[in-house]
Amino acid sequence: MKKFKIEQLKENEPEVQYLNILQELPDIVYKIDPNGNFSFVNNSVRMLGYKPEELIGKHFSKIIHPDDLKLFARQYVLKKYKGKGTSDETPPKLFDERRTGQRKTTNLSIRLIPKKRKKTKEDRGEIIAEVIAFGDVSSTGHYATHIQEKNKKFLGTLGIIRDFTKHKHAEEKIKQHEKMLEESEKELKRFSHRILKIREEEKKKLSANLHSELGSMAVTLDSYLNNIEDAIKGNNLKISLDIIRKSKRKFEKSIKMLKRIIADLRPPDLDIVGLPDALREYFLNIKKQTGINIQCIMKIDDKKLTNNAAITLYRIVQEAITNIIKHSNAKKVTVRMTSRDNGIQLRICDNGKGFDTVKVKQGTKMHIGLRSMTEMAESLGGTFDITSTPGQGTEIVVILPI
Ligand SMILES: Nc1ncnc2c1ncn2[C@@H]1O[C@H](COP(=O)(O)OP(=O)(O)OP(=O)(O)O)[C@@H](O)[C@H]1O
Ligand SMILES: [Mg+2]
Repeated sequence: MKKFKIEQLKENEPEVQYLNILQELPDIVYKIDPNGNFSFVNNSVRMLGYKPEELIGKHFSKIIHPDDLKLFARQYVLKKYKGKGTSDETPPKLFDERRTGQRKTTNLSIRLIPKKRKKTKEDRGEIIAEVIAFGDVSSTGHYATHIQEKNKKFLGTLGIIRDFTKHKHAEEKIKQHEKMLEESEKELKRFSHRILKIREEEKKKLSANLHSELGSMAVTLDSYLNNIEDAIKGNNLKISLDIIRKSKRKFEKSIKMLKRIIADLRPPDLDIVGLPDALREYFLNIKKQTGINIQCIMKIDDKKLTNNAAITLYRIVQEAITNIIKHSNAKKVTVRMTSRDNGIQLRICDNGKGFDTVKVKQGTKMHIGLRSMTEMAESLGGTFDITSTPGQGTEIVVILPI
């Protein structure tokens, strides 16, 4: 091949024009000699941090990831084919390709190693040397054409490397997103399964509550009616009146309880009433029914709350207060709702008898309340935490993003 000395050639000579075009191509164009050393490389190699002239005479392995070198350099690859030959259908792909025609290397994807640079101020901690670029190589053997076919002399390999780093990164990002999407679909399935299960359990709990309340009222009233009958038969008016009064009290208590179960099922229209007022109303009713005084601190802008978030917070408070009434014996209860950065924090504290949270979680008894509160908070991307120590009360903290 003719050696170019650009300075000695005139601008408009064809060789100079071709060389200029080669230099400015966006892909890396290279030529390596039979020993694998660069004899030409165009300006695009600067994207790896090299000046073309500093690579001339250097082995091509300088710019290739060592693992890929083992896969695509003749000195490693051809050893494996010793005595076997390579098939026409799937000839190995080589960076230092000698073959031409049909069997030359096309679309070989390799990782390129950029030149290690000393960190400059501009790098600001970026580890440039570890950045790996990706290239798509096409290469072919180059032979002296004027020599007869039989003895033609191998002059080296000509190749083009197309930088597809951005494409590769985009591809990796897509893969990552696909994986994340798959994961979140799975999580969604698991989640809706859990929600369905909780709903079923809640229905069971409701029917058990109704059954026990109506059952106990029916049994008690039935026995009172028998007692009244006996008292009337025995002409004992005072006892009859006493039992009638007792029956009325039992009846009123059961009706109150039933009303509460029904009210719990249908929260007020929070769109109209607003969460703070709805909760204050709910706490007043609790005070009337149980005597428990709930201190209520609301420092939120409930207009920022979605209806879903408002209902969820209302339901969690209801479930927590039901637990306090059922289990805690507390004298003091505080419900505090405050705005946080991008969210709302709900804290419910009681000074009741507390419990061992680990034992309850590990126990075999069917408890739905705590689980359903957790599910409700998590379903809106929030968190639910409970801390309790026997004898020292219980604290629930819920954070919901808004
Ligand atoms: N504020 C509290 N004070 C004392 N113990 C509590 C309190 N909250 C919950 N517990 C304990 O935790 C257990 C689990 O509560 P959870 O609400 O999950 O179920 P439950 O109230 O027993 O039944 P369910 O809510 O399904 O009707 C309760 O049985 C009780 O022992
Ligand atoms: Mg409960």
